[in-house]
Formats: sequence, structure tokens, C-alpha cells
Amino acid sequence: MKNLTIAIDGPAASGKSTTAKLVARRLGLTPIDTGAMYRAVTLKVLRLGINPEDEAKVVEVANKTDIWQECKNGVLKTYMDGEDVSEEIRTPEVSRYVSVVAKYPGVRKHLVEIQRKLAKQGGVVVEGRDIGTYVLPDADIKVFMKASLEERVRRRLAELKAKGVKVSAEEIRKELETRDRIDSSRAFAPLKPAEDAFVIDTTNLTIEQQVEKIIQKVHEKFGDEDP
Ligand code: CDP
Repeated sequence: MKNLTIAIDGPAASGKSTTAKLVARRLGLTPIDTGAMYRAVTLKVLRLGINPEDEAKVVEVANKTDIWQECKNGVLKTYMDGEDVSEEIRTPEVSRYVSVVAKYPGVRKHLVEIQRKLAKQGGVVVEGRDIGTYVLPDADIKVFMKASLEERVRRRLAELKAKGVKVSAEEIRKELETRDRIDSSRAFAPLKPAEDAFVIDTTNLTIEQQVEKIIQKVHEKFGDEDP
């Protein structure tokens, strides 16, 4: 499946990242996490002490930031100006501001250029918010993953607890609701399913079931041939 392009979009904690990595492994493709790129720019903005609401400054920083991603031995790493920031971009502080930074067209254009360059290599599973609608409108398979807010709060809480981060369910609920609202209502490339996307409600599905549904779609469309 070396030239296949799969786009997976959906709101925060809908299961995209885990699913994208597992689908990629099953099909011998490379996963690309575009959310991590918006997070990396946000991390830089915060480190520099710039107010995320200052669009002009944030866009200036984004345009001077070199972002790269690489998957080695099944582990996806995100680099910002050559530094591995894969862990640091997951902090609650970055999560709090990332949707503000991601709504600026100037930030998006810079990152979309990088995303398209990475995807051009072919054989990729790209996850984000606007992949099927804007970044890769010609993707072979488009998936939109959703889940109830309750279930997404539960998943994100478990994920952060496992990492030893102390947050309450209420704080997570607020963060997810705010991000959903900003991501869905922004003017430039908002979060929404592409018209030709296959929508999966993952509320009551296990990770294995989610992965299986996407693999099934690939086989329905391509059989066992190598697209
Ligand atoms: O992992 P989680 O579901 O929390 O979110 P993420 O995929 O890391 O994305 C973080 C944020 O980046 C989102 O809430 C969006 O504001 C932004 N994002 C975006 O605008 N476009 C994308 N293609 C990917 C992420």
C-alpha cells in the first residue's frame, strides 16, 4: 500500500492519534500528526512569552519555525527547530492555547505547506482537523472520527493520569468544549467532515474495532492490490 493516502479528521480525544498509528503500522504506511505541529508552534510562542492572542507576532514566530516529523521504529517524533518536543507539546498549558494559535491563517498556511510536503512522499496516514477538506482533498480514504463529549473526557483524563498529570474531569471538559468550539467555528479550514468522509462514532468502540473499520474500507476500495 505504498502510495495510499488516508486522511483522519475529528475533534480532540476522538481516538485519531492511536488509530492513525495502528492503521499505519498494519498497512506499512507512515503516520503524520498535524495537531502536534500546531502544538509545537504554540510551545514556541509560550516559551518566548508572546501572547497567543497577538496574531501578528504569533504568525511571525510560526513562519520562522522549522517543524519536522519522523516515524522511527513505530515511534512518531515531532521536532521544532531541530529539538525533539514530542513530550513537551502535550502539557495542559499547550493544550489550553493551541486552538487560538491554530485559527490564524498565517500559521495554518506555513504548517499546511510542511504537511503537504511530507504527504507527497506517499504512503501516509495523516490525522488532524482539515486533512480531508483542505490539506489533502484528494486523499484515497477519508475518515471522520467522533465520540460523545463524556467519552472523550474519560479518555483524555485516563491518558493524562497515566502520565502523572493532575487535572480534574471538569477542567478537561472545559478545555475540550472550548477547543471544539474554536476549531469548528474558525473561518479558515474549520473542523468538519469532508463530504466524502466515512464517519465513525467511536463512543462505544474499542481501538481494535476502530482500526478494523478503516482497514475494511481500504480493502473494500482497493482489494488486496497495492494502490
Ligand atoms: O490530540 P488532541 O486530540 O488533543 O488534539 P491535536 O490533534 O493534538 O490538535 C491540537 C489542536 O491543534 C486542535 O485542537 C486544533 O486547534 C489544532 N489543529 C488544527 O487546527 N488543524 C489540524 N489539522 C490539527 C490540529
